[in-house]
Parts: sequence; C-alpha cells; structure tokens
Amino acid sequence: MSTCLKILVLHGPNLNLLGTREPEIYGTATLADIEIHLIELAAQSEAEVMNFQSNCEGELIDKIHETKEEIQGILLNPAALTHTSVALRDALMATDLPVVEVHLSNTYQRETFRHHSFISDIAVGVICGFGPSSYLLGLQGLLEYLRGE
Ligand code: DQA
Repeated sequence: MSTCLKILVLHGPNLNLLGTREPEIYGTATLADIEIHLIELAAQSEAEVMNFQSNCEGELIDKIHETKEEIQGILLNPAALTHTSVALRDALMATDLPVVEVHLSNTYQRETFRHHSFISDIAVGVICGFGPSSYLLGLQGLLEYLRGE
C-alpha cells in the first residue's frame, strides 16, 4: 500500500480571479473548481493537497517555510512571479523538495517576457497550456515521481 503523500499547491497572484479574468486565455473555471478537482484526484491517489493562493510574494514564501517539514512536494502555478521572482526560486531551493510548475496557458505562445521562468530549471517537470488540466497532470506527475513510478 502506498503512503499518503502531502502536497502543497501554491497559486500565485491574480489566480483568485480565475473564472472572470481574461477568460479567452484562462478559461471560465474558477480557482475553487480547480481546487476541488485537485482534492478529488489526490483522494483517489491516496494523497492529500493543501491549496494556498496569495497575491503577495512574501506570503507564498512564508507558506513554503511554514509547511516544508510536513509536505513531500510542491505543485506550483507561480503566475506572474514565474517571470520575476528570484526570491520564490530561492525559497523552493531551500526546501530540497520536488517541485512541479504548471500554467493554464501555453506561456511560449504568448509575449516573450513570459518565455523565461525562474522556476523551470529547478522543477522536476513543467506542464503548460492545458487549462485546468495542467494542474491535474502536474499533480499526477509529481505523485508518480515521488513514488518512483
Ligand atoms: C500563468 C501564466 C503567467 O504568465 C501569468 O502571469 C499568469 C498565469 C498561467 O497559468 O497561464 O498569471 O501562470
């Protein structure tokens, strides 16, 4: 029987507006919809997710510091902080935990400033472009990675 893995799911700035924010890019699913699907997938996979969204870089970093001893991995949509935050990268590196980076949109089809990520090269995997399914694929990948599958 596999052990119950605890995963911290972090959602960066403006993702609280999903559902109404630029729906032509991000779709109409709300953050609550995404969180419910993640909780369901985790339950089916004998895992547990802790969802946390913040518009503040420091609050996301504090959450990593606060939870790092009780979790086994991090699923992260850093949103705009992807392209700007050395501090978030450093916080992730300080944990030694596996990180999977996800994006709803395919950032490589968008403005060039979205093509660079401060997170991708320290992540075990990156998934982008599949809308809310990016999160589910990312969680599945992270759990398989942790279980050595
Ligand atoms: C995003 C892509 C980022 O470039 C953007 O700043 C976001 C959302 C995505 O999920 O597609 O806020 O991370």
